[in-house]
Amino acid sequence: MPQNRQVTLIKHVIGNPKIEDFAMIETPIPEPGPGQFLVRNLYFSLEPAIRGWLDGKANYFPPIPLGGVVRGPSVGRVLKSNNPDHQPGDIVFALNHWEDYSILDSDTILLQKLQPKGDTPISYYIGPLGGSGTTAYVGLHEIGHIQPGQTVVISAAAGATGGMAGQIAKLRGCKVIGIVGSDDKAKLITEELGFDHAINYNKTPGIAAAVNALAPEGVDIYYDNVGGPTLNEMLLTMKVQGRIVCCGMIADYNRTDNPNPITNLWEVVARQLTMQGFLLHYYQDKVPAALDQLEKWIAEGKIKVMEHITYGIANTPAAYSELMSGKTIGKALVALDTPEDTAK
Ligand SMILES: NC(=O)c1ccc[n+]([C@@H]2O[C@H](COP(=O)([O-])OP(=O)(O)OC[C@H]3O[C@@H](n4cnc5c(N)ncnc54)[C@H](OP(=O)(O)O)[C@@H]3O)[C@@H](O)[C@H]2O)c1
Repeated sequence: MPQNRQVTLIKHVIGNPKIEDFAMIETPIPEPGPGQFLVRNLYFSLEPAIRGWLDGKANYFPPIPLGGVVRGPSVGRVLKSNNPDHQPGDIVFALNHWEDYSILDSDTILLQKLQPKGDTPISYYIGPLGGSGTTAYVGLHEIGHIQPGQTVVISAAAGATGGMAGQIAKLRGCKVIGIVGSDDKAKLITEELGFDHAINYNKTPGIAAAVNALAPEGVDIYYDNVGGPTLNEMLLTMKVQGRIVCCGMIADYNRTDNPNPITNLWEVVARQLTMQGFLLHYYQDKVPAALDQLEKWIAEGKIKVMEHITYGIANTPAAYSELMSGKTIGKALVALDTPEDTAK
């Protein structure tokens, strides 16, 4: 008899998430009530934002309590439904939990019915055609106001969002520099993703000097995925009236009690910079146009898709730890081995 395997948080996370911070429990598969539907999860989208819910402190979503099932986005297939808008067989994306089966209703956060096209893998709808691709697209266009000929710098450039942002900026006719944490990632973004230059911050004592040497004209857009020391240095490279797109600050997610100091903020005034944060779910009206364009580019082979897939729900904590320690390239996700599959 299949059970619902769920990954729970058993210790508040300090520093990088560890396997021992989580446990797996089994509970009966829930039955959908009025207006609800039951989804069998197929892929978990591993996201740095989840880290902010694991240390017991308020963030833009409530913290996950000890013993609670970890909250995270997933793609799944509807199995049973008491909701007229969602029929068995439908594929949906939503903010669910790390579990085999989830109960959803029309108010579930981020709920979106997916219409996978042709033989496009479903996993693409949580990466390049999901949150990573659309975040990169919306950030560059709505916040960065990207234009051909501009100079764009992207941090965590071999990651899910950064890798997409760099490829989009190249397709928009920009000069693109990526900042990454290893030589392998530097090679990948220049040789396979088409970035013009790469900087490995672990081997570059002064990021500002390195960027200024590669872009003496100054940086029009800094697409910031990391914050911390990289942001501090990038403030010294910006063109007058440049724009910093604040997408994320992963350099501080594992050290929220002791965030990195930013000492160069005067440059925002001196260079008349615009520094703007954004969260994708406030820009839902911009997503359909972004998706149309991304689907075309991927179908035409103009965007290369990079996925880091871990198999099996039991390996989710280890996969999450890998993501948060910079060991992944491209979109990190978990493909579920559901009890039905493993029983075959
Ligand atoms: N605003 C939004 O709506 C939105 C939506 C999605 C994601 N985001 C943000 O976008 C950023 C990237 O997310 P993602 O899902 O695409 O993850 P990702 O880039 O695939 O993976 C995270 C990468 O961050 C880098 N990193 C990890 N720790 C770091 C540290 N201490 N200092 C500097 N870099 C570090 C690592 O790359 P290196 O090895 O190259 O350092 C790692 O591979 C995150 O900050 C996330 O919160 C924001």
